[in-house]
Amino acid sequence: MLKISDLKVNYGGIEAVKGITFNVPEKSIVTLIGANGAGKSTTLRSISGLVKPRSGKIEFLGEDITGKDPTQIVSRGITLVPEGRKIFPDLTVLENLKLGAYMRKDNLDSDLKWVYDLFPRLKERSWQLGGTLSGGEQQMLAVGRALMSRPKVMMMDEPSLGLAPLIVRGIFDIIREVNKQGVTILLIEQNANMALQTADIGYVMETGRITLSGSGKDLLSDDAVKRAYLGT
Ligand SMILES: Nc1ncnc2c1ncn2[C@@H]1O[C@H](COP(=O)(O)OP(=O)(O)OP(=O)(O)O)[C@@H](O)[C@H]1O
Ligand SMILES: [Mg+2]
Repeated sequence: MLKISDLKVNYGGIEAVKGITFNVPEKSIVTLIGANGAGKSTTLRSISGLVKPRSGKIEFLGEDITGKDPTQIVSRGITLVPEGRKIFPDLTVLENLKLGAYMRKDNLDSDLKWVYDLFPRLKERSWQLGGTLSGGEQQMLAVGRALMSRPKVMMMDEPSLGLAPLIVRGIFDIIREVNKQGVTILLIEQNANMALQTADIGYVMETGRITLSGSGKDLLSDDAVKRAYLGT
């Protein structure tokens, strides 16, 4: 569904992504794991159109979308839940959610119902200001806002960061549920254990390159992965 070929991304003189190739099959959960600074966020940002790749190709459903603008990418059905959530603190939960659907004004009610069914907590808090939500609730809001664009692919940049273990499990339950409902997931995680347990396919990134790939289960039992990312 999403096909990345020999993608290279620079920030000035810094080569953040040095030629990576990977695929995200339709209706799968794919995870990218790797150390800080490996280029994971940069990869998602370039798929989203937020940074322009230096070279390489990004194809979505057979169409070359390399270098397109973020709004064009969203309208094709690719959305990003960014690192650090980036919700609007001075807007209510409902206003934040409506902004996620800015590309389309039709069917807001059914989309809202979908998101509120997934996150009853957001429904209870629909008039609360985003900035006053707890960390876990803000993450729910960030995911809910992304879903309001009715994505075909939802990319998530470290959704579990800074959340308590119970909340993290809740976030992963939601990822699985949304995936079951047909949304393809591309997930970046520091929590490699949870990510690999959840994912169909995993890729390990090190300093701008993909160094390992395999099924989530295979990577979980890989000795190098265990030592570097699972702490066992
Ligand atoms: N806007 C920027 N300008 C210059 N360099 C950047 C910029 N954004 C990222 N980089 C650099 O690119 C490299 C890859 O960063 P990136 O954020 O993609 O890593 P990451 O794998 O997401 O790391 P983390 O796990 O810490 O989030 C890093 O060396 C980083 O310092
Ligand atoms: Mg990152």
